Amino acid sequence: MSMSPEEARVEMARLADELEKHNRLYYVEGISEISDAEYDRMFRDLELLEDRFPNLASPNSPVRRVGGAPIDGFEQREHDVPMLSIDDVFSEDEVADFFKRLRKGLNNEEIPVQIEPKIDGVAVALHYDRGELAFAVTRGDGREGDLITENVRTIRNIPLRLKGDCPEWLEVRGEIFMPNEKFAQMNQDRDEAGLPAFKNPRNATAGTLKLLDSREVAKRPLDFIAHGSGRIDGWAPESILELRSLFERVGIPLNRPTWEENSLEGILLAIRELDEKRHDLDYATDGAVIKVISIPDQVALGATSRAPRWAAAFKYPPEQKETLLREITVQVGRTGTLTPVAELDPVLVSGTTVRRATLHNQDEIDRKDVRVGDTVIIEKAGEIIPAVVKVVLEKRPEGTKPFQLFDEVEGKCPSCGEGIVRPEGFVAWKCVNPICPAKSANQVRQFVSRKALDIEGVGTTVSEKLVERGLVRSILDLFDLTVDQLADFNLGTDSEPRMLGEKNATKIVETVARARTMPLHRWIYGLGIPQVGESAARELARLHKRFSEIAESEILAELRTFSTGQRKEDHPDLAPYEIASEVGPTVAGAALDFFQSPGGQAFLARLEERGIDPQSENYAPIPAKDAADSPLSGKTIVMTGTLSAPRNEVKEKLLAAGAKVSGAISSKTDYLLAGEGGGSKRDKAESLGVEIISEEDFFAMLEN
Ligand code: IVH
Repeated sequence: MSMSPEEARVEMARLADELEKHNRLYYVEGISEISDAEYDRMFRDLELLEDRFPNLASPNSPVRRVGGAPIDGFEQREHDVPMLSIDDVFSEDEVADFFKRLRKGLNNEEIPVQIEPKIDGVAVALHYDRGELAFAVTRGDGREGDLITENVRTIRNIPLRLKGDCPEWLEVRGEIFMPNEKFAQMNQDRDEAGLPAFKNPRNATAGTLKLLDSREVAKRPLDFIAHGSGRIDGWAPESILELRSLFERVGIPLNRPTWEENSLEGILLAIRELDEKRHDLDYATDGAVIKVISIPDQVALGATSRAPRWAAAFKYPPEQKETLLREITVQVGRTGTLTPVAELDPVLVSGTTVRRATLHNQDEIDRKDVRVGDTVIIEKAGEIIPAVVKVVLEKRPEGTKPFQLFDEVEGKCPSCGEGIVRPEGFVAWKCVNPICPAKSANQVRQFVSRKALDIEGVGTTVSEKLVERGLVRSILDLFDLTVDQLADFNLGTDSEPRMLGEKNATKIVETVARARTMPLHRWIYGLGIPQVGESAARELARLHKRFSEIAESEILAELRTFSTGQRKEDHPDLAPYEIASEVGPTVAGAALDFFQSPGGQAFLARLEERGIDPQSENYAPIPAKDAADSPLSGKTIVMTGTLSAPRNEVKEKLLAAGAKVSGAISSKTDYLLAGEGGGSKRDKAESLGVEIISEEDFFAMLEN
């Protein structure tokens, strides 16, 4: 295929626009209109064109979201408008004083103000030049900060290009943060990998943004929320509400919830309401920011050298509690890492009862000198996972002993009794027994999880019991379970039996049977191979037709020999495969190690015995240019009512047929796929003249 530079320029702009649009839909508005595979295909097309026409590649190309070459250090850049801090207030009385100062300064009784959460992240200024992200700077000392543009480009909900009309120059200020749950997951992964855990989401964010290799930053789950502006050319908003609507229009993520009040009573109520709600936010908040809405009023009030007079941050008291540490237990994770856990006297922190807190590893225990019997202060780091902050030494009883994990478990895995090791350079002890039941139970849990084989009816308790009672020693044993066996299976104890029952048993056996034909990427993900997450599993499935091919995969063997940082130009022989972004040497190596290990080989042999060989549903080692011309291709579809299969499955079928799936009906919707029930969407479809199709119609269209 030959293409003139002009044709390439047009196509590259089109691909970049499409990719940015779907990125925004997904990360800012929460809608997916295309499948991962389609997104990836466009991504690779753009990457290919950029390789062929490097001088046409834009620095804001969506391709840059995966990061670029490491840099030696950050350049400094002065802020056009200084980035000030906010004055803190610590009590309702101090809020009253602040409001009094506003009234006096503006000579008015009622001052409209906005109240919003204070995000505990890292402040950043994003500069957009005619809608294009030009550069990004950290707050630094308020006068100048680090240029972290490459790192910022990897944050998916930050637009590289603004949507629609916008001021000539727009400096958006806000916070970069790590969502609580993703932070918790990352720390758990770090515990498992023997790496030191981060103290809280803020530290994790700051540490990540300081990385000089943006490809590493791209792997960390960062997010952004805007809360203000700096330099703006070509527009002068009258109020921060106008600024908010501009942000909303151009696709910048907003801070929510907010309150508008104009009296002290109103402000105090909003602060209390936010206190109730803030634990449900997905980021850490320790306060409420109160700001004057009118920008002329802000200007009139002015600022000190440190902070503006038109804003204040109300700080909620820290959520720490004292409790007694009764015991330290040791848990074995899916990959065999031993994690010490503090068993506490239950206490209420940030609205939930805390009974346990992770102690991460021996080094952490040593550093804090945590002992059984100690009174400890616990805190919900990032308002979500409890951590032991420190020991109250004055309350330490007589006769406590330093805790040694190795001695505590007598050098043996608490689950299987085999010896434990501490690999070199690791902070954690590990059980290396491949058939350790603790690992097995966790492996079963991963295998049956919703994103893997989605085996309903087998949750944590059932997995644990099945392994504990020896019915399941490895995941494939699930396929040998019978209804009779399971119906009489006791989930309780001998004295208090609780049988699984015939109905549950039947459901489990049925869903297990269905798993035999589940697509390849779900099987791969379900194996829980270290380094192979959901998207890597999809990529592996893209490169292989069926399970049995992976162990002898030439492409993986080749990919494994790459060293990180090598570019695909260095491997012309692999060019047709357009090396998958997710399958680098690490993933390729991990997959091969698994399938070529004795355990992996045994696994494959057992699969073969049972006649199971999962097929890929996204096999496309060479990017397909034009998708099949199915009647659903390119159509936007909304689902409603009860369908014959879970929504996720139907969605996958729709996406595979080339359709886009959206959550809400609009005039752009082509079909409403309606099952039983589904009232309001049906009404809306009728009023908009959107065609309503049944599942039978849908299957008929698929057949075509
Ligand atoms: S408004 C002049 N709103 O807190 C400052 N700032 O401690 C006006 N912050 O530098 C900023 N959440 O980086 C504002 N909802 C919010 C905020 C917020 C967090 C940060 C901001 C500021 C720092 C001051």
